[in-house]
Amino acid sequence: MLSDEMKQKLIAEAIEARAQSYSPYSRFPVGAAVLAENGQIYQGANIENAAYPSSLCAERVAIFKAISSGNRHIQAIAVVTKGAGSPCGGCRQVMREFGGKKLPILLADEEGNLVEETDLSVLLPRSFGPEDLLV
Ligand code: THU
Repeated sequence: MLSDEMKQKLIAEAIEARAQSYSPYSRFPVGAAVLAENGQIYQGANIENAAYPSSLCAERVAIFKAISSGNRHIQAIAVVTKGAGSPCGGCRQVMREFGGKKLPILLADEEGNLVEETDLSVLLPRSFGPEDLLV
């Protein structure tokens, strides 16, 4: 269970991360903050590229920071966009790998209002994950 204090902290960190977005093409900055298994929070922002497909979403930047810092599991993620947008399909699959089936997901708008609190089983039902390769 995430405390209200932790929810607010994750949203505040995602807002901070969003300020570092490199999104000159879409002009749609996104910020994310991940609570990792070690208790630390990792920030990420979307990073675009003149060759558009080489861009990376904020959620994956934050998750990959956590994983490349030695974590193998994430406990929660907050995402901040204008209009509190929902994560893309590719990011949902990456969340599945490291957050499990029920990863808590907080979606907040640019002012930090928590617009939707959900989990990965809602956003990615009947998902394929690491356990499915062990049959
Ligand atoms: N974007 C994210 O960072 N996360 C999402 O879940 C959806 C989209 C970014 C990608 C691109 O830089 C911009 O938002 C517009 O699609």
